[in-house]
Amino acid sequence: MKRLTIILLFSALMLVVIVISMRSIGASQQGADLHNEQVLLKGTDIPSEAATFAREDFAYTYLEMPIDESKERSLDDYYENRAFHGAPPTIPHEVLDERNMGDKSCLKCHQNGGYVKKWDAYTPVAPHPEKINCRQCHVPQHTETVFQPTNWHKDKAPSVGNNNALEGSPPVIPHQLQLHENCLSCHAGPGAPKEIRVTHPERINCRQCHVFNNKEVTDIGDFSRPKTTDHEK
Ligand code: HEC
Ligand code: HEC
Ligand code: HEC
Ligand code: HEC
Repeated sequence: MKRLTIILLFSALMLVVIVISMRSIGASQQGADLHNEQVLLKGTDIPSEAATFAREDFAYTYLEMPIDESKERSLDDYYENRAFHGAPPTIPHEVLDERNMGDKSCLKCHQNGGYVKKWDAYTPVAPHPEKINCRQCHVPQHTETVFQPTNWHKDKAPSVGNNNALEGSPPVIPHQLQLHENCLSCHAGPGAPKEIRVTHPERINCRQCHVFNNKEVTDIGDFSRPKTTDHEK
């Protein structure tokens, strides 16, 4: 009897060990960035779309904000400051402390935007205030002469104004959604480029009407580095 109890106890213990190991192996095999996978591949939920809803109160402010047209940004200005479509823009102004990574020193202006007298410009709102190490991705441009010219060219950005099926129907979203979850940050308020500033920031639930055109994502596909041998062929 005693022996049977011990055997049973041991089997139960083994079972627990197996279940726990299976679970942790399963967990470690999940993609590191599940959130982006959802956004890019399935085009379903965007958990961080919550950011747009969190900014709901600003929508009406944006709608009513007076905008000085002589200080508006155009899409050309917008693209000029990016190495390619979707690349992080460089910091076009001086920063107080070169060794500062970001956070409040940037968000005091970039969280909600507004006019900055010193630079005579409206502040573009950061689409991702939760990524607090701003300078991990955004750097100032210090030189135009150190690098030699190469055959690098920017791919053209998707065009604007012809993304709707019929006149008056909502245009499809021509860009990918990664780092674009917070629609209002780029599409509303005086900091938004004039060509893409919406007439209706108060309709918060943007993707109720605007669907995702995943052509760009399909074109890019999943990135995989070619093997050296493929490369040499
Ligand atoms: C993980 C990299 C990363 C981090 C960290 C990051 N950004 Fe960005 N940021 C980007 C990319 C990429 C874009 C360009 C998105 C696009 O244009 O498609 C961008 C765009 C922007 C824009 C332009 C929005 C517009 O309408 O023109 C601003 C402003 C900005 N970021 C500010 C910030 C601030 C402030 C922080 C820190 C709180 C920050 N970013 C942290 C990658 C990052
Ligand atoms: C005093 C307010 C203020 C502070 C602080 C500030 N910015 Fe800015 N930022 C602006 C304004 C205004 C512009 C627009 C400049 C222009 O259009 O000439 C801008 C533009 C930018 C852009 C270019 C966006 C684009 O779409 O081209 C980036 C990137 C940026 N800032 C990042 C940062 C980072 C990172 C920090 C913190 C180290 C920071 N900023 C601190 C006001 C500020
Ligand atoms: C980082 C800034 C940024 C964010 C965030 C962003 N967009 Fe855009 N959007 C752009 C730019 C820039 C264009 C112009 C085409 C391009 O460059 O991709 C554009 C184009 C569009 C267009 C086409 C407009 C036309 O007239 O053809 C639609 C619709 C749109 N965006 C919807 C959205 C929705 C919905 C969201 C939120 C899920 C969103 N965007 C988030 C920058 C942004
Ligand atoms: C109830 C449906 C609906 C919702 C919700 C909606 N839109 Fe639109 N949107 C439209 C329609 C319809 C048009 C075309 C308007 C036209 O051609 O006059 C449009 C046009 C646009 C354009 C092209 C520029 C313009 O204003 O005409 C952009 C950019 C855009 N919407 C972005 C957004 C963003 C960002 C949101 C969320 C804050 C949003 N939309 C919410 C229906 C909607």
